[in-house]
Amino acid sequence: MTKPIEGFSKLSKAEKLNWIAEHYTSNNEQTLHILKKYWNNDPQLQQLHDEFIENTLTNFYLPLGIAPNFLINDTFYAIPMAIEESSVVAAAAKAAKFWQNRGGFKTRVLGTEKVGQVHFIYQGDTVKLTRFFTVVKPLLIAHVAPIVKNMEKRGGGVRSIELRDKSGELANYYQLHCTFETLDAMGANFINSCLEGFAEKLKEEALTYTAFTEREKNIEIVMGILSNNTPNCLVRAEVSCPVDDLKGHHDLSAMDFAEKIVRAVSIAKIDPYRAVTHNKGIMNGIDAVILATGNDFRAVEAGAHAYAAKDGKYTSLTHAKIEGDIFKFWIEIPLALGTVGGLTGIHPLAKIALEILQKPTAQELMQITAAVGLAQNFAALRSLVTTGIQQGHMKMHLLNTLNQLGATGSEKKELIAYFKKHTASHSAVVSALENLRNKQ
Ligand code: MEV
Repeated sequence: MTKPIEGFSKLSKAEKLNWIAEHYTSNNEQTLHILKKYWNNDPQLQQLHDEFIENTLTNFYLPLGIAPNFLINDTFYAIPMAIEESSVVAAAAKAAKFWQNRGGFKTRVLGTEKVGQVHFIYQGDTVKLTRFFTVVKPLLIAHVAPIVKNMEKRGGGVRSIELRDKSGELANYYQLHCTFETLDAMGANFINSCLEGFAEKLKEEALTYTAFTEREKNIEIVMGILSNNTPNCLVRAEVSCPVDDLKGHHDLSAMDFAEKIVRAVSIAKIDPYRAVTHNKGIMNGIDAVILATGNDFRAVEAGAHAYAAKDGKYTSLTHAKIEGDIFKFWIEIPLALGTVGGLTGIHPLAKIALEILQKPTAQELMQITAAVGLAQNFAALRSLVTTGIQQGHMKMHLLNTLNQLGATGSEKKELIAYFKKHTASHSAVVSALENLRNKQ
């Protein structure tokens, strides 16, 4: 396919399907068959999904699983998780069960501040701009009054607007650095609307500010946009227990196991190569809850990794120590989440996921999600410092491999039993299936 297409978005869904199958796939009919197989039988539900984005062809399924037995601040939760990686839900559930008998997860929200910025160019005297800002600040706030009215009624709104001089780093560049409280909403639309309102008023007022020269009057707005760096929208989750309660791991003493976990975390603290993978394991759990509840995992990913690098070097999001005879393991992570607005109220599965979580507030969802991240990291480290990751991973991946090889129901049953006692590498599964078929 070499020719571009004009007006693709205006084609009907059937035309889009035909065009893509014909121009970009080798087996036209099979492509259409598979794409259509993933349509929902309920046309209204399918239309809802079609309208989430532009140019929808079909749906892309992810499994939605449950990790039960999460004891968080003395309440049991069953956690919905949407993820494709085979061992993630099993690992979360296993870690939850482990900590259930050791006091569970203790969590607290450390802050809920969101940030947005108006980036602009001003060519002139900074002192005059500072004076202008003092005059214009109440007008900016008044200008967005209709947007913030409802949010303010509920206790949220604009918390601060600060002028920041960035001209030392980029010629003539200044910012309005603004903070917001968006309560149970993730708040992206609210924040962006406020910022665009601030930008509009800033420009307008500058044009008539008599102390400015003609050049100074001409403020150039570059953009107004929220920041996904939310270091003060922060949550902490912790588990702790007497070191003795950690016995039973492989052939390790309880203290040896505790020390190995602490050392594994210390390695992630000092080595960015390890830290990235360590944190990726945390995000396995966090993203799965975020997806299941209709939140924005890209926003949270960006903010979490920025936080991991906030002191100038990328490091672990979790921490561990042995204090006397107590083992402590905790996470601090920024999580800008919502339980109202966006997809949370539109996607039927997100609504059910939130119902399963007992309709949490945004702050409760932050705490639940942080606990899952911590559990996921504990599960990964526990495997890594004892058996290695592959044993559990390959066990969970076995069904995928068997499905890929076209194993029948009875073949799967027999081979799952066989691999309870054998290591399930890809080649071992291939030859075990061959052997089984040769016997039949
Ligand atoms: C795999 O998805 C995640 C792990 O690599 C995390 C880790 O190494 O800590 C197992």
